Amino acid sequence: MAFQVKKAVFPVAGLGTRFLPATKTVPKEMLPVVDKPLIQYAVDEAIEAGIDTLVFVTNRYKHAVADYFDKAYELEQKLEKAGKSELLAMIRDVLPKHVRCVFVTQAEALGLGHAVLCAKPVIGNEPFAVLLPDDLIWSKGRGALGQMVDLAGKENASVISVQPVPQEQTSSYGIVSAPNFTGRFGAIEQIVEKPKPEKAPSNLAVVGRYVLSGAIFPILEKTRSGTGGEIQLTDAIAELLKQDKVLAYQFEGRRFDCGTRIGLIEATIQYALDHDDLAAEARAYMQAALAAK
Ligand code: G1P
Repeated sequence: MAFQVKKAVFPVAGLGTRFLPATKTVPKEMLPVVDKPLIQYAVDEAIEAGIDTLVFVTNRYKHAVADYFDKAYELEQKLEKAGKSELLAMIRDVLPKHVRCVFVTQAEALGLGHAVLCAKPVIGNEPFAVLLPDDLIWSKGRGALGQMVDLAGKENASVISVQPVPQEQTSSYGIVSAPNFTGRFGAIEQIVEKPKPEKAPSNLAVVGRYVLSGAIFPILEKTRSGTGGEIQLTDAIAELLKQDKVLAYQFEGRRFDCGTRIGLIEATIQYALDHDDLAAEARAYMQAALAAK
């Protein structure tokens, strides 16, 4: 099957316990980096990659993501009356017109593999993307997912993004072995969820971007709970490897782990330093703050 990727799945049902108490009422995907919530960065990256259908897998308590992408009638009217056309455009343009959103509920938090399986009725048997909004990928040129979609089309294969991590951190990630890299990609021979450093097949960690063949769904339907008692996407990919080519891809760009407090802080600094209106003040403040320490 040709790898034309038009749909993307965003698993956003997690509890975000690392950011309590903020996440008591604000889902972690709505935490801002400078002036946009994390989910908007992931959605922008998907749209730039050519995605036109966004599938959010959410839980029944979380309405903030749906509200964010919905039309804000009252606010639009107020801004229109006040003649604030720039702000009006900003809230209207959270999504371009050709993009549609679909919301799917994950009834029980049974793991990432299960969350992706919940999107099956919307995806069907097509290749699709998965983006974990916690992983914010900053890049100057084409976004990470765009690079992966291009590679998937060229090689007619599933593509998983990876980056090297210190060996002692392997137990926080899916880890692949892909011994024969050509440039930035290589065929995956093995993939394991969160192995201990001494058992890890390499130090190449899976980052939250995947381009997957629709063949993953029948496999997910049979996947039993694994690491942490959860249905793992990694375990289904390990099965997919047996029947299809799956590539590991080292993207161009820098990943911030915004599922952790320090990752969110680092991302905020990076994006502030990159922001036309904020860079000078942000730099001056950081220098002064460091000098005073
Ligand atoms: C998930 C995946 C893991 C991957 C990671 C990337 O883990 O299960 O394979 O390396 O995302 O962020 P989580 O961070 O949700 O525990």
